[in-house]
Amino acid sequence: MSYTDHIFPAYRRRCAELAASTNPFAQGIAWVGGDYVPVAEARIPLLDQGFLKSDLTYDVPAVWDGRFFRLDDHLDRFEASMKKLRMTSPIPRQEIRDRLVEMTSLSGIRDAYVMMFMTRGLRYVRQYAPEDCPNHCYLMVTPYLWVMGEEVQKTGGSAVIARGVRRVPPGAIDPTVKNLQWGDFTRAIFEARDRGAMYPILSDGDGNLTEGSGFNVVLVKDGHLYTPRRGVLEGVTRKTVLTLAERLGHAWTIDDIPVSLAYDSDEILFVTTAGGVMPITLLDGAPVGNGEVGPVTKALWQAYWDAHSDPEFSFPINYR
Ligand SMILES: Cc1ncc(COP(=O)(O)O)c(C=O)c1O
Repeated sequence: MSYTDHIFPAYRRRCAELAASTNPFAQGIAWVGGDYVPVAEARIPLLDQGFLKSDLTYDVPAVWDGRFFRLDDHLDRFEASMKKLRMTSPIPRQEIRDRLVEMTSLSGIRDAYVMMFMTRGLRYVRQYAPEDCPNHCYLMVTPYLWVMGEEVQKTGGSAVIARGVRRVPPGAIDPTVKNLQWGDFTRAIFEARDRGAMYPILSDGDGNLTEGSGFNVVLVKDGHLYTPRRGVLEGVTRKTVLTLAERLGHAWTIDDIPVSLAYDSDEILFVTTAGGVMPITLLDGAPVGNGEVGPVTKALWQAYWDAHSDPEFSFPINYR
């Protein structure tokens, strides 16, 4: 028995049902240019500045066991990101919300990774006055993705604190605007691979932790949770985990977190929509705490997945 048996056997059964589906949208559905298409057929125009300059924002909620998880929190962040980029959605928020629910229902996907994109829109390569571009919205629902798969979750993953690359400073690219400018993360992923680890954590170059390639970082020391304040996306998963931690009796701190605390932690967890609570048991080649998935991580892991069936955090999708 592994603690992960709490969700994975049932999830695998749902995956098998999806794999047997003859629905043309079962492997994913996209909304592009006003039409629904199977995701493998979806195309974006080459002249979209989202592609040419990564001038875009996006957001990613998930569906778990037929229920949308914290969709409104993701829409709130999406709208806030658009505002910071001075973008205006061509369709109202309610339509984005309704379409995402409709697309999930049409696809029959019960565990989904859901993406909404807002791009600057179409302009020729150098003819670019950003305020003049009508912004473009793209939507997509695909089967759920795991930043850390079941087998690794059982024993915990390995990470390094990147030495050769730092997180892009917030004064250059605002990390609170969810973005796909992954230059720093990609370099750090290669560094992690070169050093025999799975995941990188990036520092701010001044001795503080930021985040990793697609996840927030949470450290546990003496039952207290610590997570970086600056240079990070304000993750919805992190928000959920801190709420649940409080209910389990753990206090937490969002502040500048020195890199040295990571080496001195009892437990380390990475948190993101695509994977939930992910234990890290090896850091820079050395065990974290006793090298096993710790009790605080396990309690938060279970509370996190239980929250997916809780109406406080999720609502059911009416499948056709
Ligand atoms: C850079 C970065 N940090 C943190 C996160 C976690 O955010 P959330 O919990 O809202 O999925 C993500 C999610 O993709 C991310 O890309």
